[in-house]
Amino acid sequence: MNSPADFNLKAPPNAHAARPARLLTPGPVPVPPEVLEILARPIEHHRTPEFLKVYRNLLALLPRVFGTNQPAFVQTCTGSGGMESLLVNVLSPGDRVGVIVSGKFGERWAEMAQAYGAKLSRFEVPWGESVDPHKLQVWLRDQEPLQILMSQVCETSTGALHPVREIAQIARARHSETLVLLDAITALGAMSLPMDAWDIDGMVGGSQKAFMLPTGLALVAWSQRAWQKIPQARAPRSYFDIRAELAANQRGESHFSSPVPLLRALEFILSRIEAVGASHWQHRIAGLSLATRSALPHLGLKVFPRVPAPTLTAIAVPEGLDGQKWREKLEVEHGLILMGGQDQLKGRVLRLGHMGYIRDEDLLAAIAGLADSLESMRPGSVSPTQRRDALQVAADVLTQHPFVLANPTRSEGPR
Ligand SMILES: Cc1ncc(COP(=O)(O)O)c(C=O)c1O
Repeated sequence: MNSPADFNLKAPPNAHAARPARLLTPGPVPVPPEVLEILARPIEHHRTPEFLKVYRNLLALLPRVFGTNQPAFVQTCTGSGGMESLLVNVLSPGDRVGVIVSGKFGERWAEMAQAYGAKLSRFEVPWGESVDPHKLQVWLRDQEPLQILMSQVCETSTGALHPVREIAQIARARHSETLVLLDAITALGAMSLPMDAWDIDGMVGGSQKAFMLPTGLALVAWSQRAWQKIPQARAPRSYFDIRAELAANQRGESHFSSPVPLLRALEFILSRIEAVGASHWQHRIAGLSLATRSALPHLGLKVFPRVPAPTLTAIAVPEGLDGQKWREKLEVEHGLILMGGQDQLKGRVLRLGHMGYIRDEDLLAAIAGLADSLESMRPGSVSPTQRRDALQVAADVLTQHPFVLANPTRSEGPR
């Protein structure tokens, strides 16, 4: 057995000790100082009148993020739990489920549907491509009508954005009863996705993305059409049985214990979104993405997906360069934490996130770090003029896309 002396309660030494790292992954993301303060408050019981007031406000604000008149829910789990919840509440074993698979997260949903006994058909999209609406139309025409069609809004493993409004229209035109479920984990809050107006039947988001919170909450909502299926769905469900949560929410409380600090922080963020206007917050995210995409050509770099999502940029690793070494170099020598590629994209892309508490100086440091690391790996590839132009173009874009959601001046200096 370990004695207390065996436990190292001090932070382990790390490569960033001399230079604080900037977290620039597409989730988790840096959180604003106001959120850190909320998370550090003393623990409070989730049935107190003070907290229930916050919870009820959160429940009132949440459907607005989805653009729905239906109730929206917060579930204590990661985004994948929310995907499972979205699915199991409308699925019966033997249902024909179509899954758009364009990367790692499409694979995840296919595995889940299979685990719950769906009759699965896969619409394969090459990694880095987006759904071609015409091809989808033809594919659906050749299938028996589907009970459910599932897609990512943004496939985070490739950085590609899918035309989800058209996907929903095409599915509906093929069979009016098909439920269209969207994994909007790297999209909800970051872009306009009006669920009711676009006739989408279910969406899931994650706290560690555009909501600038730690990982641990999934946000989910179903359409009126989907709610008609929920009582009849026969897939096994217990923790994720949304009917129990609905009943509790209608009484103004949660069914299970609430992660109070996370929910208080979510309520803070939703109130800020409400106060500044979602479009202003989305404009900032789009600006970070545009600044990045404008800077890359000056460094001789290309974006990997054909239609990039605003929430992250997947940078194609230049031919002959070791992408894994490049990522490590950025982390160890420049204090920049980016994500590499997964599965078939291992070593082939670097992914830079645009959600979260990312200040102008963070993105500019990332661009400078990309320039300097490239130049050191391939001397002569990035001239001082190219570096300066990349930074200048990014800075100009950022000026047009100010940070609006939290107070950007509060934690100037190293994190
Ligand atoms: C599109 C997408 N789907 C699903 C997930 C899985 O979410 P989690 O890791 O929170 O379970 C992620 C996480 O990055 C994602 O980006």
